[in-house]
Amino acid sequence: MRRTLLFPVILASASTLLMLAAWRGDAQRGNPPGGGGPPPPPVPRPLPDLTPDQLTAFRAGAKEFTTVETRADGLGVVFNGVACAECHRAGGAGGAGMDLTVSRVSRIGGIRKGVYSDLAELGGPVIQARSLREFFPDCPVPGEIVPPSADFKSHRITTPLFGAGLIEAIPDAAILSRSGKVGVDGVQGVANRVLNPETGLLEVGRFGWKAQHSSLHLFAGDAYLNEMGVSSPSFPVENQPQGKPIPPGWGGIGVESDGTDVNLFTDFMRFLGAPLPARNDSVQQAGARLFDQIHCSACHVPTMQTGSNSVAALSHKNVALYSDLLLHRMGPALADGIQQGQSKGDQWRTAPLWGLSSRQFFLHDGRARTPDEAVLLHDGEAAPSRNRYRSLSPPDRRALQQWLSSL
Ligand code: HEC
Ligand code: HEC
Repeated sequence: MRRTLLFPVILASASTLLMLAAWRGDAQRGNPPGGGGPPPPPVPRPLPDLTPDQLTAFRAGAKEFTTVETRADGLGVVFNGVACAECHRAGGAGGAGMDLTVSRVSRIGGIRKGVYSDLAELGGPVIQARSLREFFPDCPVPGEIVPPSADFKSHRITTPLFGAGLIEAIPDAAILSRSGKVGVDGVQGVANRVLNPETGLLEVGRFGWKAQHSSLHLFAGDAYLNEMGVSSPSFPVENQPQGKPIPPGWGGIGVESDGTDVNLFTDFMRFLGAPLPARNDSVQQAGARLFDQIHCSACHVPTMQTGSNSVAALSHKNVALYSDLLLHRMGPALADGIQQGQSKGDQWRTAPLWGLSSRQFFLHDGRARTPDEAVLLHDGEAAPSRNRYRSLSPPDRRALQQWLSSL
């Protein structure tokens, strides 16, 4: 509520009105989203203490993040969204998804000859459900469908990006210091090691539901390709829609973006302010205490620290993310079978809990509509903690819920 109340105030700002006009203008010129899409979300606060140059980069990044891409920019031929902010919008540009039909995407995988496969030959790993046919009726390629022969199908909701630069600035060593160690309740998180094609190195993953990427720049390039169908230097090859070649004239030839856009997306996300929790009153303090007492904090580690960083606003800061950024086995009901990096089918990154107040859907596929439902669906390593949660007295459970909703 707190942050949604800000909405009308920000909406009234001149820059937002200009952006609204631009978004609609695009539509009128025959570009997506075709007039029917929602207006772009307002630009939220950047990190405090940015230099003037960093603020300029943040603003330029925000503009690119909310810009609707067109066929001329490389959009499609198949895609899931026309702008980053079409999915990332709850609580402002960069937020979680608001409309599951757009912002929840499907990922597929399978076992072929005994080996895990992304099923590129069927259009995997990410299904792009929309196509340029939405705007150009003569487009020969329809949106992709989940192929029946995929062994694993996973829905993924859009995660929020507020404070993402701070998460990126946490040193690998801080994440690795907990990896593989057995903690209370036998909880044992492990770091995901993922290949970074930009450095050629195996790095500690930290972004995405399975901690499948190590950097914001990498995730931005991946999202540009896999959600919007725009290729760029680190992701130069478009997926073949449903595994079939792209017909001539509909994209797929050459690298569509020179990387400028990906750098701009990265600046925006890196400098985006962290969620601001509501001020603690006594009920909420009780909630925080209970969270620790029933060992939610075994995985949802309340704070981590960034290391020294060339950006002063990211250097030696407290990050109140409520995550250890490690993978945990969460039981068969949450498992999706998908492997990303070294993650297995039942492993998930401890979801950061900051910013829960601006969220509408919870857990990787959005199956929970409240934090309470999300906790009750915890299993596997989290079963002892979930059982204690279930056994809390009603006032204690309410206090914990109120506190979660204030983050
Ligand atoms: C069609 C909806 C959609 C669009 C468009 C989209 N995203 Fe996302 N984004 C998602 C989903 C879904 C996830 C979670 C993916 C996962 O982990 O499986 C995500 C996750 C992310 C993350 C990881 C954050 C975290 O929690 O660790 C980053 C970074 C990101 N997106 C950046 C971008 C950028 C930059 C763009 C534009 C180039 C973009 N996204 C466009 C849906 C979208
Ligand atoms: C063993 C580690 C572990 C423990 C213990 C644990 N969690 Fe989680 N939590 C996770 C993981 C992993 C996810 C993401 C699971 C998924 O999306 O399928 C998650 C997700 C959540 C979510 C949903 C967040 C989102 O972004 O959708 C909430 C809320 C939550 N946990 C609260 C709690 C509370 C409260 C407790 C204590 C009763 C707790 N968790 C204990 C690992 C843990």
